Amino acid sequence: MTDIQRVLLDENQLAQRVKELGGEISQDYADGDLLLLGILKGSVMFLADLARAITVPVDMDFIAVSSYGTGTSTSGQVRLLKDLEGPIEGRDLLIVEDIIDSGLTLSYLIDVLKSRQPRSIKVVVLLDKPERRKENVVPDYTGFQIPDEFVVGYGLDYAEQYRSLPYVGVLSPSVYIGNE
Ligand code: IMP
Ligand code: MG
Repeated sequence: MTDIQRVLLDENQLAQRVKELGGEISQDYADGDLLLLGILKGSVMFLADLARAITVPVDMDFIAVSSYGTGTSTSGQVRLLKDLEGPIEGRDLLIVEDIIDSGLTLSYLIDVLKSRQPRSIKVVVLLDKPERRKENVVPDYTGFQIPDEFVVGYGLDYAEQYRSLPYVGVLSPSVYIGNE
């Protein structure tokens, strides 16, 4: 626990908010053909819990992108590492992302996916750091707005570590100092 400066969102807060988001999404997609599109790997815990809080039928698919090396801020370049398995034409796509920071990842993905002509595209993020936005992306559903601090846990990593923590915590800067 020494790598974690403080717990920002504990298990109860996460569970409560994910349930609320699931309720909202279920209402909005009552007549939809909902495809949850998880962005690997950070969204995995969130997607697993969110899917179980959604009461309408859902399909799931996954995509992997990379914009971070092992540091704590974006490299500014987004690459597609793994594409979806199936076509999305005519589907109601809900992109599920762990966190929006600069917005570069989501704005790139939305462009790529729009060209494949889904019926609709919306975005749900667990966390939003609005202070750091460079691209004008506004998520349709947001779990929590958080301050500009580097967080890990509940799927979020630093250099592939800490994803399995059950809470979201602020990483001690001593862990990454010199490696931003
Ligand atoms: P963006 O392209 O700058 O919006 O960055 C989005 C991606 O950066 C997310 O999918 C995360 O993988 C990563 N990211 C941004 N902030 C954090 C953080 O505080 N902790 C862990 N990963 C982060
Ligand atoms: Mg990510």
